[in-house]
Amino acid sequence: MKQKVLVTGGAGYIGSHVVRQLGEAGYDVVVYDNLSTGSPKSVLYGQLIIGDLANQDQLYQVFAQHQFSAVLHFAASLSVPESVEHPLDYYANNTRNTLNLLRCCSVMGVNRFIFSSTAAVYGEVAQNPVTENSPTQPINPYGRSKLMSEWIIQDYAAASSLHYVILRYFNVAGADPNGKIGQLSRKASHLIKAACDTAIARIPKLQIFGDDFPTPDGTGIRDYIHVEDLASAHLDALRYLQKGGESQIFNCGYAKGYSVREVIARVKAISGVDFPVVVTPRRPGDPACVTACADKINQLLDWQPKYNDLDQIVSTTLAWEMQQ
Ligand SMILES: NC(=O)c1ccc[n+]([C@@H]2O[C@H](COP(=O)([O-])OP(=O)(O)OC[C@H]3O[C@@H](n4cnc5c(N)ncnc54)[C@H](O)[C@@H]3O)[C@@H](O)[C@H]2O)c1
Repeated sequence: MKQKVLVTGGAGYIGSHVVRQLGEAGYDVVVYDNLSTGSPKSVLYGQLIIGDLANQDQLYQVFAQHQFSAVLHFAASLSVPESVEHPLDYYANNTRNTLNLLRCCSVMGVNRFIFSSTAAVYGEVAQNPVTENSPTQPINPYGRSKLMSEWIIQDYAAASSLHYVILRYFNVAGADPNGKIGQLSRKASHLIKAACDTAIARIPKLQIFGDDFPTPDGTGIRDYIHVEDLASAHLDALRYLQKGGESQIFNCGYAKGYSVREVIARVKAISGVDFPVVVTPRRPGDPACVTACADKINQLLDWQPKYNDLDQIVSTTLAWEMQQ
């Protein structure tokens, strides 16, 4: 019999790639999404239920109607500057709604849980690459809302039969190489998307937020992971839990950092457009450099990334943005 899984936020950017891979792998998928940033056209497999995680009654009904073998929880708000401005909204949507979902899992006896966390839980890191045991000192409400969710999941797992995998994503970019799905949210301000949008003149000029960081060229350094590889990590995590694996936290990145200026140079080279760039002050809550140590996920999940190349990340993003 097909395994049925619940995917919250499955109409969003990352969730929709995971839904597509789950569908291709033969899972029966139910997506629960309020469409605040997601789109129904991104859901290529399964059933889409439009609903908000804050609506606990609707959530219970969904759990009662289906027998889920696992929950994959993507739904969240994820802009760092917005979280600085509206922290309560972030604690409500990210932390409280994770609690709502776990309550349903508890009452309905679902005991496998995969959670979308973030490198933002590490904050200003003292040493790169960051391992899963590095100190977690988030420096913005977004990171804190996610770290609190991790603690809730861990505390509940310690007191129950729940087994979890927490995936801490580094900087996610790229799109489906077949061009069917990609980043659609108008709110998304990620560097590679913004640079591609500038290359195709959707944005007049690209902003660099700070060039006075303690990095070789003064701009922030990040570890960019292709969304397809990140999606496959979720299927690996699901199989791991289904085989009875212990609860784990994994970094998801390629263990390689690129500065903002390096990324812009690749986007300019690949697009062939020398678009305008302006330097503006640092944004509150942006650390200088964050790169992942990915040894643990490689070893324990035997994760096999296929797109760990900045040019592939840029070219799939550019191709996607050009067709929007
Ligand atoms: N994109 C990144 O670079 C990145 C990095 C680290 C972690 N993450 C995490 O990955 C997850 C997915 O991010 P994404 O980039 O796909 O974002 P996204 O905005 O494209 O997707 C989020 C989805 O959740 C839905 N949603 C939000 N709040 C909801 C609610 N209360 N009830 C029901 N649905 C709701 C939205 O409509 C959307 O479809 C998030 O948890 C985010 O924190 C993303």
